[in-house]
Amino acid sequence: MYNFEYRNPVKVIFGKDTIPKVADEIPTNAKILLTYGGGSIKRTGVYEQVINALKPIEVLEFGGIEVNPHYETCMKAVEFVKTEKIDFLLSVGGGSVLDATKFIAAAALYKNGDPWNILSKRGNEEVQEALPIGAVLTLPATGSEMNGNAVITKYSTLEKMAFSSPKVMPQFSILDPECIFTLPDKQVANGIIDAFIHVIEQYLTFDVNSPIQDRFAESILTTLIEEGPKVLANRKDYESAANFMWSATMALNGLIATGVPQDWATHMIGHELTAFHGIDHARTLAIVLPGIMDIKRDNKKGKLLQYGQRIWGITSGTEDEKIDAAISKTVEFFESLGLPTTLKDYDVPNETIAKIKIRFEERGGKLGEKADIDFNEVEEILISRM
Ligand code: NZQ
Ligand code: ZN
Repeated sequence: MYNFEYRNPVKVIFGKDTIPKVADEIPTNAKILLTYGGGSIKRTGVYEQVINALKPIEVLEFGGIEVNPHYETCMKAVEFVKTEKIDFLLSVGGGSVLDATKFIAAAALYKNGDPWNILSKRGNEEVQEALPIGAVLTLPATGSEMNGNAVITKYSTLEKMAFSSPKVMPQFSILDPECIFTLPDKQVANGIIDAFIHVIEQYLTFDVNSPIQDRFAESILTTLIEEGPKVLANRKDYESAANFMWSATMALNGLIATGVPQDWATHMIGHELTAFHGIDHARTLAIVLPGIMDIKRDNKKGKLLQYGQRIWGITSGTEDEKIDAAISKTVEFFESLGLPTTLKDYDVPNETIAKIKIRFEERGGKLGEKADIDFNEVEEILISRM
C-alpha cells in the first residue's frame, strides 16, 4: 500500500427526517444564500422543509442552476453573493447544485483574475479561500456531499472541467434517503452507475498489496449491484434507498482512494461527451468504461480477473476469456438499469471523436493509472464504443 494522508472534515447527518436538523448547523449570525436547481426541491417538499426549519433566519435564494452547471450561471451567483455580502452558502439539490455552490464559494473570494482559472488550473493551488458551504443532498450519485470536487461547464466554449480543493468541502451534508422516493428512474439508474464507476476508477488499476482497500471497494460494488435494482423496482423501499445513498457517498469521499493508484480516464473522456452532446454524466461513463476495460486489459489484468471473480463469480476460461466475460457482465448490468453503452445509441458522430482527440492532444498529458493513455489511445477507446 502507498503512503497516504487522509482527512475528511464533512459532518454527515444521515437518515429519515433529518432535513430539519439544518437549523442546528447553520451559523445563526450568517447571511445565507440557498442555492438550488430547476425547481425539483419545490415539487418534492424539500424546499419547504428547509425554509420551515430555518425560520426566522433570513435566507436569500439563487435558483435555476442547471444540470451540468454552467460557469456563466455560477458567475451570476458570484455577483449576487458579493452584492448581498453573503457569508454562508446552503446547497439544496443534487450534485450539480452542490458543485455549482462549491465553485461559487471559491470564485466569490478569488483574487487572481478570471475564476475560470480555478478550473483550467485545476483548483488546489488556486483556491486559497472559499465561503463556507452546507448541503442538503437530494440525489445520491456524485459523492460531492463528502468531497472537495466540483465539475463545471463553460457553455460558451463547451468545456467541462473539474477542480478539487479541501476548502470547498461542505461543513455538513444532510442525507435523507427519502429524497430518493421522488427521483425518476433515469436519475436513480444514473446515480447507481456513477457511484459504481467512481469505485471502479479507484479499484480497477493494478495491485499494490492493499487487500483492505480492495475489499472496501468490492463491498460498495456488490451493494450497488444488490440494492440498486431494488430501489429502481420500488422507490419507497427505505432500507435499499438508505444503502444506495450511503454507497454513493462512500464511493467518492476519499476513503477507498487512500493508499492505492487511481485511474479517472473514464471520467475525463466522459466529460467531453457531456460537453459536446449533453449526455448525462453517468451515461457517458457507461459508454466509455467498457472500452477502457478492453483496451487497457494488460495494465489492468490482475484487477480485472479479481473483479470478474469476486464481483461476478467468473472462474472458468483463459485469462482473456475471463476478462471478456467481466466486461460483458458489466455492460449487461448497465443495460439492465436502462443505460445504453455505445456511442451509436446516442447518435454521436465520428467527428466528435476527432474533436475529442484534438482536445486531449492540445491539453497534453496522459490519462490512466499509469499515465499512458495519450490522445491516440483516447481515440481508439472511443472508436471501440461506436
Ligand atoms: O435541477 P432540479 O430541478 O433540482 O432537478 C434535478 C435534475 O433535473 C433532479 N433531482 C435532484 N434531486 C431530485 C430530483 N428530482 C426529483 N427528486 C429529487 N430528490 O435530478 C436531475 C439531475 O440532477 P443533478 O444534480 O444534475 O444530478 P447528479 O447529482 O447526478 O449530478 C451530476 C453532476 O455532478 C458532476 C457531474 O459531472 C454532473 O455535472 N459530478 C460531480 C462529482 C463530484 N463533485 O465529486 C463527481 C462526479 O463524477 C460527477 O462528475
Ligand atoms: Zn462521476
